[in-house]
Amino acid sequence: MRLVLGVGLRSGTPYSELAGLVSETVNAEVQLVVTIAGRETEPALQQLVEQLGAELRTFTTDELAGQPAPTPSEQVEQLAGVPSVAEAAVLASGAHLVTPKQRSTNATIAVGRLPAPGYPEDDRSVVHRVIAERRDVRRGFLDVPIDDDLLTRVLEAAHRAPSVGLSQPWDFLLIRDLATRRKVHDLAVEQRDAFSASLPQDRRAAFDGLKIEAILDTPLNIAVTCDPGRGGRHVLGRHADPRTTWFSAAIAIQNLWLAARAEGLGVGWVSFFEPSEVAAVLDLPAHIELVGYLCVGYVDEFAAAPELVRSGWARRRPLTWAVHHEAWGRRTTSIVDDAVRAGANAVPATGQKVRVVVGGNAMDLRQRDALVVDLSAERPHADFGVLWRPARTPAEAVELGVEIARDLALQGVGELVVHLADLSATAQALAQGLAAGASASGLSHSSA
Ligand SMILES: Cc1cc2nc3c(=O)[nH]c(=O)nc-3n(C[C@H](O)[C@H](O)[C@H](O)COP(=O)(O)O)c2cc1C
Repeated sequence: MRLVLGVGLRSGTPYSELAGLVSETVNAEVQLVVTIAGRETEPALQQLVEQLGAELRTFTTDELAGQPAPTPSEQVEQLAGVPSVAEAAVLASGAHLVTPKQRSTNATIAVGRLPAPGYPEDDRSVVHRVIAERRDVRRGFLDVPIDDDLLTRVLEAAHRAPSVGLSQPWDFLLIRDLATRRKVHDLAVEQRDAFSASLPQDRRAAFDGLKIEAILDTPLNIAVTCDPGRGGRHVLGRHADPRTTWFSAAIAIQNLWLAARAEGLGVGWVSFFEPSEVAAVLDLPAHIELVGYLCVGYVDEFAAAPELVRSGWARRRPLTWAVHHEAWGRRTTSIVDDAVRAGANAVPATGQKVRVVVGGNAMDLRQRDALVVDLSAERPHADFGVLWRPARTPAEAVELGVEIARDLALQGVGELVVHLADLSATAQALAQGLAAGASASGLSHSSA
């Protein structure tokens, strides 16, 4: 706990009076004494600060005047020019008040508590830098063995991750053996081919130019696993949401990824697998599940931007789209207004044509490029060809339409052909949102 002592005192206040008032009120260590500018030369205050071994900080009348001090005083206003010194100075220091103003003949004091400190700016910038400069790396790996101490540091960072009920459900299987990596690589190639075959032709050509794994190009692969039952029946916080086990393992991977970046070690996450097939190759016990498969090695450089951005495959979402205030959809600027404004300046997009069927049914999925927006209240069977958007109001449907169009544009779509499969107000509102979102993203847009 870091205490702040706010002091207001008349000129010439005896030290004994001030010290007495403080000792009656405060029985813990004070880190900071705060007062109004000009009073720092008062001998009683100087002696108090020295006795407490605290730091002294002053605030101007302007800085104090704006503080919402709970017990303002006309007398203080006349003497100091502000309605509160002790309380206002505590608030101006960034602390919150814990003890109401206490008064003696010539002095007032108030006590506040400061929040725990963050890191100094240089340290903070390193944290933000490693987050920004972490990359998923798939090329440019060097055929150099990884230093054991470095690897231990990186695994320690992963192992320090938060986990539900401190269940620490992860394990790290380190794979260097070429024969094993070849088998895992074969599985990734199979899934790569399957994904490629599922793509529309122009998207397939773009995908075929992408590198999606470095299983054989890295000296080390790490399979990060999860034991969903670890810790038994009473793991704190897991009972209501078992997914938290897998979240915990994923966070361990992020810790590993960040620490590796700081150490100059490249990491690439490969998910082109049916997890049970990898588990079989790795001979994992049946109760252990694969969460992430990582390719790890020294690299000649870290790219400044994600490979999928540099190759034009996908783009990043702005933070403002992702932040909602108090209620879903309440963004700093409305996504609909934002789309309408952006429409005027949108740069025409190029990319695949997608037929969006609003309110449609599974029949429409037979067309490979159709994306069905299902508006029904019941969750449909999971299918990446179906976007479930149970809009609660037409206004929400417009927002969801804008969002769908913009997110499709981020994933390389250049043209929307919208087909209304039902004429409900919700479906029409969603189509209206799709049109606004398409225009904001420079997508060409038509109705079928
Ligand atoms: C769960 C998960 C699975 C991923 N799977 C693959 C993958 O199979 N192949 C690949 O090339 N990148 C994969 N990535 C990396 C992402 O493409 C990458 O994180 C994203 O494009 C952003 O780039 P950045 O990590 O460099 O910031 C995966 C990332 C995550 C988090």
